[in-house]
Parts: sequence; C-alpha cells; structure tokens
Amino acid sequence: MIRIGVIGYGYWGPNIVRNFHTHESSEVTLVCDKNPKTRERLHKAHPGMAFTTDENEILKSSTIDLVAVVTPVWTHYELAKKALENGKHVFVEKPFTCSVTQAEELIELGDRKKLKIMVDHTFLFTGAVKKIRQLMDEGALGDLYYYDSLRVNLGLNGVEDVAFITVYFPRHVIAHINVNWLSPVKVRTTLIGGEKKMLVWNDLEADEKIKIYDKGVSMSKPSSLHQLLVSYRSGDMWAPQVEQIEALRAETAYFLKCIDKNETPFNDGVAGLRVVRILEAADKSVRNRGEAVTL
Ligand SMILES: NC(=O)c1ccc[n+]([C@@H]2O[C@H](COP(=O)([O-])OP(=O)(O)OC[C@H]3O[C@@H](n4cnc5c(N)ncnc54)[C@H](O)[C@@H]3O)[C@@H](O)[C@H]2O)c1
Repeated sequence: MIRIGVIGYGYWGPNIVRNFHTHESSEVTLVCDKNPKTRERLHKAHPGMAFTTDENEILKSSTIDLVAVVTPVWTHYELAKKALENGKHVFVEKPFTCSVTQAEELIELGDRKKLKIMVDHTFLFTGAVKKIRQLMDEGALGDLYYYDSLRVNLGLNGVEDVAFITVYFPRHVIAHINVNWLSPVKVRTTLIGGEKKMLVWNDLEADEKIKIYDKGVSMSKPSSLHQLLVSYRSGDMWAPQVEQIEALRAETAYFLKCIDKNETPFNDGVAGLRVVRILEAADKSVRNRGEAVTL
C-alpha cells in the first residue's frame, strides 16, 4: 500500500485526493492546505480523513511514501524539493516549476535519491490525445507538416491574457498555439496536417472529438515549371472511437504502477522540464516583442 500526502486542496486538489484514495494499492493518509476553511470541504467528501495546515507534517512524515503537490506553481519547487529530500516520490502539478534551473535541480535530486517524479499533464491521458498519439505512431497521417492549436475562452488570468506561440521543429515541422482568456466564445480545436491525412480534434464535441480527413495536395515532380501537375485529393472523413475514461484516474494508476515496477513514467520530470523550457522561452520572447528564442 502506497501512503500519500496531498498538499493543496483548492480547485484541483479534490480530484487528486479522490483518485489516489480510491485505487486499491494506495490511500491518502493526510491532506494539507494553508487555508483552514478547506477542512470542511475535505470532510464532506471524505469524512474523517486527516487534515493539517502545516505542510511539514506531510513532508517530514515517517509513514508517507508519496507527496502530491497541488498548489500554485510558485510553490512547486520548494515543496517538491523538501519532499524528495525527505525520501518521498513526488506527483507535482503542471507546470512543473517556474524555471528551467529549478526543474533541472529537482530532476537531479530525484535521480540521486532514486525517487520518482511525475508531472501531472493530465491531457496526455485523455482518450483523444491517446488516440492521436496512436494514429501518429502508426503513421496514419504520414510525415507531419504542422500542428495548430486554438484554445480560447473568457476567464480570469493573472498573467498575459493572449499568446500566439510559434514553435519551429526540425524537418520543417511547425506548431502554432493560440491561447486567449479574452475570447467571447469557447473554442478548443487543434488541426494536425500530415502528408497522408489531416486531423481535426474538437475537444468540445461530446462524441466524434477527432475527425480524420483524407484530404491533401500532391505535386508531380516536373522537369520544367510548365509541366508541374497539382492534384487535390478529397476523400473520406472518419471519426475514430475515442476511449471514455477519467484521464486523472488512468494517470494516477500509471504512477502507482511505475513506483511498484520501478519504471520511469513518460511524463516524468524530464518531460515536465521540456514544457518549462518552452514556457520560459515564450516568456522571454514576449518581453522582446515576439523575438525568436533558440532552444
Ligand atoms: N492538471 C490539470 O489539468 C490542472 C487543472 C487545474 C489546476 N492545475 C494545477 O494545480 C495547481 C493548483 O491549482 P488550483 O486551481 O487547484 O489552485 P487553487 O488556488 O484553487 O488551490 C491551491 C490551494 O493550495 C493551497 N496552498 C498554497 N500554498 C500552500 C502551501 N504552501 N501549503 C499548503 N497549501 C497551500 C491554497 O490555500 C489553495 O487552497 C496549479 O499548479 C495548477 O496549474 C492542474
């Protein structure tokens, strides 16, 4: 049985407590939140579950094996560091840390202590993302040309409200991410263009979240410009079955399995660091009016 302490019981914390507490091989033995008012909410959902406002009761506990850090990003580094120093595996919310240096330090500490770190990029465990990954691995789309993601809504945000991020990958693959908290409508759509097929993922669709289009343009190799032949392909569209699962349930189960089998999760600290690198670069770029930052 893996005993878990959860730090942070705000918006996302209850999902982490519920999932880790209901797996057969784990139990949440202590929850901490600086705000004493959260105790009442915890006890409504989990009567009798131990609660504290002192994070050290979790971090220094001799009976807790894993600490889940579900607090705002600027607290992740200190809490995760203390948890690792005290010999505990760490499940930490995304984004992993505020800086690349902090993430690298935590990865090194985890390696040295032979402890696991998982960064909660919940989306990776959704049926839609798993299906897209499978299609790409099978080569269903062919060579990748572009990734274009639009995720906008009206909401509260303490930092930049609008961002247009362009990421250039090797082999001419380009990604564009448009995030916006000042949009009058909610849109969560991603287009992925490949040599063989194109994919549209609309995360707001209840069914048929993913549609694959057999559309494309091909050009013959001409001996001269006059002989250039362009043909448009407009074939079928199909919507593959997408697994209906609670992503966080699958993710927490996977982390428990990784600890049990001593395996490294694919969404480990190194994966979390890759995201922090992009965020740090985007931050630097935004301060220089969109100047390119080489990674
Ligand atoms: N994986 C996801 O899909 C997902 C979704 C939402 C939020 N998150 C992440 O979860 C984290 C928390 O987000 P949230 O929306 O729940 O925030 P929140 O502000 O609603 O809750 C954070 C809670 O942490 C408590 N807290 C802060 N510092 C603490 C400390 N040192 N010790 C104990 N308690 C402390 C606060 O009192 C608050 O109750 C963030 O990193 C966020 O990015 C992830």
